[in-house]
Amino acid sequence: MTHNTTIFPQTRMRRMRYQKFSRRLMRENLLSVDDLIYPVFVIEGQNKTETVPSMPGIERKTIDLLLQEAEQLLGLGIPAVALFPVTDSDKKTADAAEAYNPEALAQRCVRALKQRFPELGVITDVALDPFTSHGQDGLLDTDGYVLNDETVEVLCKQALSHAEAGADIVAPSDMMDGRIGAIRNSLEKNRHINTRILAYAAKYASSFYGPFRDAVGSAANLGAANKYSYQMDPANSDEALREIQLDLQEGADMIMIKPGMPYLDIIRRTKDRFGAPTFAYQVSGEYAMLKAAALNGWLDEKQVAMESLLAFKRAGADAILTYFAKSAAQWLQEQ
Ligand code: PBG
Repeated sequence: MTHNTTIFPQTRMRRMRYQKFSRRLMRENLLSVDDLIYPVFVIEGQNKTETVPSMPGIERKTIDLLLQEAEQLLGLGIPAVALFPVTDSDKKTADAAEAYNPEALAQRCVRALKQRFPELGVITDVALDPFTSHGQDGLLDTDGYVLNDETVEVLCKQALSHAEAGADIVAPSDMMDGRIGAIRNSLEKNRHINTRILAYAAKYASSFYGPFRDAVGSAANLGAANKYSYQMDPANSDEALREIQLDLQEGADMIMIKPGMPYLDIIRRTKDRFGAPTFAYQVSGEYAMLKAAALNGWLDEKQVAMESLLAFKRAGADAILTYFAKSAAQWLQEQ
């Protein structure tokens, strides 16, 4: 025998990669504008924007300017926004009463958005950290420990006030135990039967939230304190599945995994195990690091941002909350 077939690979993986058409045909995952949620920071006042130094390209803005942006977002086809109010420091208290004030910034902002653009989904953050003088997500006891059940009562009032203002989705990001069931009950009792709950079921005590805390102004309040007694240990993943199971049993409609890129394994396990709507939050620090490298000319912003968003889809995410949402929607239109 002169011919030794074993030197030829029977399967050449590169054949399918040979031309663009066959690469297109075998693509398993696609990012679409339907997958994107845009987070926005809202401030008091009129016709005013503020830059966030650790988040280049992201601005805090007043409600009137946010309405203009909302029109643009709808034009791009983005399904929903997530609202984060920046509370003036004189309104922050130990009991976080501003969180459920029907005339507070978040509630006014929801009403303005839903009145002008009923078709734009509005997601509100349910947690007390923007409203507490100490920057923790809940109420404290005299030792500084975050109280669970007392906090849940306040979260219920906050979620209800959001629903009453017209929020489509309330998103508890506080990690107290039992809050999904309690919020679901109080929404049902008050006949907000179609208000959806997006549960930040697996929220890690992450250092990737730094720029967000600058953006909402809770960093200074929190100081050197941490959130380790309620947010999850980055070392764990079985624990995340237990959190998610509980939140689904308690009536969550969607599950959020947060942060995103360093936790793609959690997204995959969640999707495989529960098959529930699974969302991911590409958080402020993830945005900041990609953006910083891009601004230095070290990475191509569009390429890495789109690759990172596609990676969420591959991991099993149904939707992605990302500060790149607006740019990504524009880039998708260009394709
Ligand atoms: C607070 C909240 C945080 C984020 C969203 N909601 C920060 C925190 O838990 O300290 C972070 C989002 C981001 O980093 O983009 N409940």
